[in-house]
Amino acid sequence: MEPLVLGLNASHPDSSAVLMNRRGVVAAICEERINRLKHCAVFPRQAIQEVLRLAGASISDVTDLAIARDPYANKGAKLAFIAKNPRVGFSLAKVSLQRHHQNTAPQSLAEQIGVPEAQCKFTLHNVEHHLAHIASSFYWSGFEHATGLSVDGAGDFCTVMVADCKGSQINVLRRCHPPHSLGMFYTAMTGFMGFTRYGEEYKVMGLAAYGKPIYADQLANFVRYDPEKGVQLDQTYFPTYSRVYDREERTFGELENGEIRVPKMWDDSLEQIFGPARKRGSPLTERDNNLAASLQRHFETCYIDAVKDAAQRTGCRDFVLAGGCALNGVGNGRLVMEKHLDRVYVHPAAGDDGTGAGAAAYVLFNKLAVPRTPEVSHAYWGTGWTDAQIEAAINEEAPRLGLSFRKLSREELLRTTVGAFCEGKIVGWFQGREEWGPRALGNRSILAHPGYPNMKAILNARIKNREPFRPFAPAILEEKLSQVYEGAHTVPFMNIVYKTRPEWRDRISAVNHEDNTGRVQTVRRDQNELYYDLIKAFEAKTGIPVILNTSFNENEPIVHTPQQAIACFARTKMDCLAVGPFWCEKPEAMAAKAEVIAND
Ligand SMILES: [Fe+2]
Repeated sequence: MEPLVLGLNASHPDSSAVLMNRRGVVAAICEERINRLKHCAVFPRQAIQEVLRLAGASISDVTDLAIARDPYANKGAKLAFIAKNPRVGFSLAKVSLQRHHQNTAPQSLAEQIGVPEAQCKFTLHNVEHHLAHIASSFYWSGFEHATGLSVDGAGDFCTVMVADCKGSQINVLRRCHPPHSLGMFYTAMTGFMGFTRYGEEYKVMGLAAYGKPIYADQLANFVRYDPEKGVQLDQTYFPTYSRVYDREERTFGELENGEIRVPKMWDDSLEQIFGPARKRGSPLTERDNNLAASLQRHFETCYIDAVKDAAQRTGCRDFVLAGGCALNGVGNGRLVMEKHLDRVYVHPAAGDDGTGAGAAAYVLFNKLAVPRTPEVSHAYWGTGWTDAQIEAAINEEAPRLGLSFRKLSREELLRTTVGAFCEGKIVGWFQGREEWGPRALGNRSILAHPGYPNMKAILNARIKNREPFRPFAPAILEEKLSQVYEGAHTVPFMNIVYKTRPEWRDRISAVNHEDNTGRVQTVRRDQNELYYDLIKAFEAKTGIPVILNTSFNENEPIVHTPQQAIACFARTKMDCLAVGPFWCEKPEAMAAKAEVIAND
């Protein structure tokens, strides 16, 4: 029987489903795109249904179910922790086993998927969280040999994993365990700075460009990466695990008023060192900017130390990275530019959504010994819509909203969109299959001219709730990368930050961050033909091989359906919308009334 492997992240935030077969990835999607609950940690029932639909398969075709969770992993470390911290430890063990049972008992699984148990003929596999992270990157990278490094908050009682990855084998060489976590340290400090929602670390990374790292030495007293002992985190100031798993507190992943709850993970004594913690929503001070810069700088030091240690252990300077910390593009930029490694592949969904992909790949290529497939070089593995489906959505939505669309040829669409950019217009762009991972990569994007006068200010004025310190991302023709940026390594998934070359800083001012950097996406024609041709057409007209790209959403997960795209366009201050081949310019009266775009 041909293997069809379904990989799930079913217990951490950003739950997801990924389907792989002998030829590689078939489909991958995060549950939040369908159920519209950002970062949700529910069982990914709809994502499972969607990847099966995209593959034209049913659950009875699935030969193997790979769950990115193994509560029996790291037993020794857990028992040692429980012995030292009985109250917290037992709570942790209880939560872990409860979730495991909920998610893996055959009857419970069938029930959650929404099918009779008899249809579930698959073999069940559990893949440890960090092994899944490393597998997601290694098996998608196409590298024959690499050092695997996964760094995050925690998963299956592990916070860092180093592995020697060769052929179809992943040989784990080191693990760090809670409460020593670099990811949780970053999250704790992010909370101290008033960014208290799940997944706001990237905001602090953006804010860091506005400050000076004057507190970096102080932060070095709290956490470090020791080659012998691994991550060492001071529990006096950062009682992360006792906060996360104390019986009084609810755990990560639980919803509170529709939001993922993030417990406070720093001790009040921290205020004696840095002054009062910032309250969410209050103005940012120089202290906050400097603290962000210091946090980012010291994180980079620890991250680089982890990479050096890992390279020493494996003797290999090609890296595959994953785990939430691998989303830190500034840190990744330093790894590349300071030559701490040679080649690198960062999984497009480096956060916990990606563990579904890693679990599937691990079972397929390691356990089932299917020959490895070439590099996965693009991330367009989600839902796509036919022109007929888009037209039906337009017929349903447009008259009600007072919008009219016209169908354009491919050439007309490119010409019209480039024309709109050159008039300073903001264009919603909904094309092809949606992106896998947290970034919009040109299929569910809001696009604009990166150098139009005041474009950054125009966008910030039109985008509600978007902090002005957050940068907009550049998408660049891959072959022009080193002309515009000091960076030679390609970045298809927008997870490495490079310096903008001085001669380009004014020409692409809207995507040039405060510290003269950009979170670049390189685009090659074989990765995304239409997007590449659009940037190429823009370059032909303006001489600029870069466009500005931000995600297509409004205080919600990135739009999933054409209906959502049209509705988001209608209520916000975008000027034009291209949904498939259909083009719409907003009537002036409606534009005046529209709300500002709230892109959070
Ligand atoms: Fe993780």
